[in-house]
Amino acid sequence: SSSPGTFRRRTLLKVIVLGDSGVGKTSLMNQYVYKKFSHQYKATIGADFVTRELQIDDKLVTLQIWDTAGQERFQSLGAAFYRGADCCVLVYDVNVLKSFESLSNWHLEFLKQANPANPETFPFILLGNKVDVDGGHSCAVTEKRAREWCDLKGSLPYFETSAKEDINIDEAFLCVAQAALESG
Ligand code: GTP
Ligand code: MG
Repeated sequence: SSSPGTFRRRTLLKVIVLGDSGVGKTSLMNQYVYKKFSHQYKATIGADFVTRELQIDDKLVTLQIWDTAGQERFQSLGAAFYRGADCCVLVYDVNVLKSFESLSNWHLEFLKQANPANPETFPFILLGNKVDVDGGHSCAVTEKRAREWCDLKGSLPYFETSAKEDINIDEAFLCVAQAALESG
């Protein structure tokens, strides 16, 4: 309990979003923070962040969400960028098998660069994006297969999302914030 005049320190949580180019990393963040979606594709160059505050129990936390470039030629991030991350969000496109097959590389790359104290328990979360496409008929990776991968990596939480239709995004980032808070 805090006495009058005592300010609870605000918690800043650093979240890094990784995944192949075009899976919808930027779109997910724009939907989450600005409630906006664009059909136009504009490749992310380097990295940039957005912030959103949210309340978890009695705590006010600020999520600092780092968007990164999926295209290799636009990647320019060193180990210093990853250091101090509280959670890593991995994104693939449920309609593109290759983006699912890349996940292990992104997972490994993060651990190599961020070098967290406890790699086994570091919080990752997996998002399977674009579930709206073709009413789900063009899905290339089943939910079962995605969950099996999550189990292999240590019971990672999994969400199927749509940045276009705003499906499951608030739920996913709430989970991200909770996981980040617990890890810190
Ligand atoms: P890089 O910056 O190159 O790494 O790509 P990115 O992962 O940030 O992808 P981006 O958010 O730019 O989205 C790529 C394309 O997919 C854009 O044309 C988006 O409009 C589209 N897109 C993103 N999310 C969804 C979604 O949930 N559903 C549909 N139908 N399209 C989406
Ligand atoms: Mg992008």
